[in-house]
Amino acid sequence: MFRANLSLLPSPNRRNLAKFFLLSILCILAYLLGIYQNSRPFVPNPVPSQASDCVQYPNITARVSPSAAAAAPPLDFEPRHSAASVLPPVPDVDEFPPIELCASNFTDYCPCQDPTREPRFPTQNLEHRERHCPGPEERVSCRVPRPVGYRAPVRWPESRDYIWFANVPSKRLTEAKKNQNWVRVEGDRLVFPGGGTSFPNGVKGYVADMAKLVPLKSGEVRTVLDIGCGVASFGGHLLNFKILTMSVAPRDIHEAQVQFALERGLPAMLGVLSTHRLPYPSRSFDMAHCARCLVPWTGHDGLYLLEIDRLLRPGGYWVLSGPPINWKNMYKGWARTPEDLQGEQNAIEDLAKRLCWIKIVEKGVFAVWRKPTNHVHCMKKSKILNSPAFCKGIDPDAAWYQKMDTCITPLPTAEATEEVAGGALEKWPKRLRTAPPRIASGSIKGISADIFNHDNQIWRHRVSHYSNYINLGISGRYRNVMDMNAGLGGFAAALSNYPVWVMNVVPSHAKNNTLGIIYERGLIGTYMDWCEAFSTYPRTYDLIHAAGLFSLYTNRCDILDILLEIDRILRPGGAVILRDHVDVVTTVKAAADRLRWQSRIVHTELGPFHPEKLLIVDNSVEPNANVASKK
Ligand SMILES: *[C@@H]1O[C@H](CO)[C@@H](O)[C@H](O)[C@H]1NC(C)=O
Ligand SMILES: *[C@@H]1O[C@H](CO)[C@@H](O)[C@H](O)[C@H]1NC(C)=O
Ligand SMILES: *[C@@H]1O[C@H](CO)[C@@H](O)[C@H](O)[C@H]1NC(C)=O
Repeated sequence: MFRANLSLLPSPNRRNLAKFFLLSILCILAYLLGIYQNSRPFVPNPVPSQASDCVQYPNITARVSPSAAAAAPPLDFEPRHSAASVLPPVPDVDEFPPIELCASNFTDYCPCQDPTREPRFPTQNLEHRERHCPGPEERVSCRVPRPVGYRAPVRWPESRDYIWFANVPSKRLTEAKKNQNWVRVEGDRLVFPGGGTSFPNGVKGYVADMAKLVPLKSGEVRTVLDIGCGVASFGGHLLNFKILTMSVAPRDIHEAQVQFALERGLPAMLGVLSTHRLPYPSRSFDMAHCARCLVPWTGHDGLYLLEIDRLLRPGGYWVLSGPPINWKNMYKGWARTPEDLQGEQNAIEDLAKRLCWIKIVEKGVFAVWRKPTNHVHCMKKSKILNSPAFCKGIDPDAAWYQKMDTCITPLPTAEATEEVAGGALEKWPKRLRTAPPRIASGSIKGISADIFNHDNQIWRHRVSHYSNYINLGISGRYRNVMDMNAGLGGFAAALSNYPVWVMNVVPSHAKNNTLGIIYERGLIGTYMDWCEAFSTYPRTYDLIHAAGLFSLYTNRCDILDILLEIDRILRPGGAVILRDHVDVVTTVKAAADRLRWQSRIVHTELGPFHPEKLLIVDNSVEPNANVASKK
């Protein structure tokens, strides 16, 4: 009776109890939901489809934990930012129509290395193979389509051994090289057995032999430049020693070697020794290598070897194999006369001496030289050695459309003969998190060791926040990563335990030229002007990260052009993380919609009250149908 009464006659007490009870249930439900979401193996969050995502933004104003944020639909941050209240209205789809696909002959389009434009440039010194970017009047504003039959790339590490033929359908290469054991077609696959003319005993034996002559195992050599890389099998095997190789080769009309390398998940870039410096700072590489790369090292007054000298760090190694090295045993196979080859070798030996390099060893197929650790002796003996002059008034690190000169790039001054010019580097992996010499010596104004250490911490937080949205841990899902505005390389350093490699890009007009620091940490990267196209093939990066990039390029070039370039180099199904001020992110989002990217705006790890926001693009959800039409 009493009970019934109570239930029939709600008292204030009873109402409170019910409220409390309801609230408890809600809390428990929310908690269980949280557990469920956190315990789920990561699956990309379904993103509302193009048609509906403008209308599905719920009003969430509460602070959300990162994991909840990951599962939540796109956040509406507008009410909290005064900046947002003055944003232009949501763009009208009719006003900003989707960007169309290019014609099917654009599937391998590299705007700055375009074979159809090559004939306009002199072939002397391979100048036609250098970067020549289309001006505004020649730019195309369409999306590069995939080849017919394109499929999700083979994942790392299997991709080191085979890739899908349909993704790089370059029959000519495999036909021309049929008799060399470096690539062959097996059904729908391109298989890389690791042979090739440079590696008669396979690349494994080649690297093993080299390791007897050069300290590849000690952590002393971490960054390698490979000139004329073939399909980067060499760099692929150096990974076994935790060595990162930047493989550089020109665009061949029929042999898309750099494309092969990237499809395999190996670092590579289009580039050629011609008239401009390679786009890397001085003292970048611990070792440079050329196997049968056919570069005229002693031609043009030693121009190209002088460039290698600029790029080698003090004490760095220069490893040469192929003609003319080992000519006594090989000249018949090379169809050249012994006199010719001996002359070439003598010229190289002589030039190396005049650069003050020391020949370490010549054994089997290899010859190894070492750059001096400083220029103290070299400057003194310059006259006696008949060395090229030391460069004057040229920034050693300037390398964006900077012409090469026939002078020695001077090392930072050293006092004692045993001192390493510019400062000695730690061995890998300690090198990654130790303040590099360029910072310790205060060579970049305003960047101290403290700032460097703090930057590393910041990036650890950021990357752990990013992993709420993009699961970098999935084995081999993301392999080729690009940081479009790399700063001190903190993003790449925070990824060092993932099975990825990062191309760290420092914009050519960035206030702080930090690329030298990035290399001193044992990471790799390049200079770049993002108003132009990158020196790579379409569909070569799985994940592209850009922090503060669009702010940096405001008023320099069109946002849409930069996004089109990202779209070109991003693999179908790839992901993009853009980090910028809320105003910029909102504008970029509107342009991203025109590219049919699956994107949403979310908070950074700094929460809803910070003006910095992220645009997360995850195209794996609903791969775009950007396939070239059959014509
Ligand atoms: C969300 O915000 C809009 C505009 O501010 C408002 O009209 C709408 O009622 C809100 N919806 C909810 C569920 O609060
Ligand atoms: C594709 O074909 C068109 C017309 O034939 C030509 O104008 C254009 O330059 C070609 N583009 C490429 C990248 O080959
Ligand atoms: C350059 O470095 C200084 C010192 O760390 C920093 O305050 C400044 O923001 C940097 N500039 C850019 C454009 O990153």
